[in-house]
Amino acid sequence: MSAVTSSRLHAAEPYLIQQDWAAYTAEQHALWAELVTRRLPQLQQHACAEYLQGFDLIGLQADRLPDLTAVSARLQPRTGWQSTPVSGFLPADAFFEMLAARMFPTTTWIRGRESMEYTPEPDIFHDVFGHVPMHAHPVFADFLEHYGKVCASLTDPLALERMGRLFWFTVEFGVIREKGAIKVYGSGLISSHGECTHVVEHGEGLEIRDFDIERVLEEPVDTGNMQKVLYAIESFDQIYEAAREAESRLG
Ligand SMILES: [Fe+2]
Repeated sequence: MSAVTSSRLHAAEPYLIQQDWAAYTAEQHALWAELVTRRLPQLQQHACAEYLQGFDLIGLQADRLPDLTAVSARLQPRTGWQSTPVSGFLPADAFFEMLAARMFPTTTWIRGRESMEYTPEPDIFHDVFGHVPMHAHPVFADFLEHYGKVCASLTDPLALERMGRLFWFTVEFGVIREKGAIKVYGSGLISSHGECTHVVEHGEGLEIRDFDIERVLEEPVDTGNMQKVLYAIESFDQIYEAAREAESRLG
């Protein structure tokens, strides 16, 4: 981490680490390869075009774990975003500070073979495969920075809870209508075969509503089960506008 980069951060500073790429074992690279090759066929059919373009743009390889410096080198000239290694789950103020600085807090550990489908804490597969390709899209990139800035300025816990719902129903579990078909862009859907199948096969009890910021801010988040309600956008401009709308309502 260069002095220039880290001097922009305060709350997040203690959580910044270096990724020791050379220390990954052959077994860990193989695990990444398995996770990626298991997800790609479904995503080629059901992920939004912006995700798939981002995947190529940031240079992800199916057969080896990503080197975050190389990912950032491809991403930064495009949208100003970096994929910045952190030690683990961040407190809210540190997380928002990093988003506002266009630095995505990225974990460097990879799950074990016993948790191929799900890990309670994000790992490099969830963070890089699930999140980072979308950061190559200019409007999504602007949205996420603005989201971080708005949250960093809020102190009311209820307002922050509402902003958490906006994050959940977009960044984590967002879907978009593309030529009439539902496509996924949220990292929780991109990185989980079970959650994604539930959506693309329109699983029992799932309702996909038109995105409506008023409803999203009031929609409780269910972290422990398959999603029952998702909000479909028509374009990424809609979530950028939603962050502005939320700012004027909650700020
Ligand atoms: Fe996530």
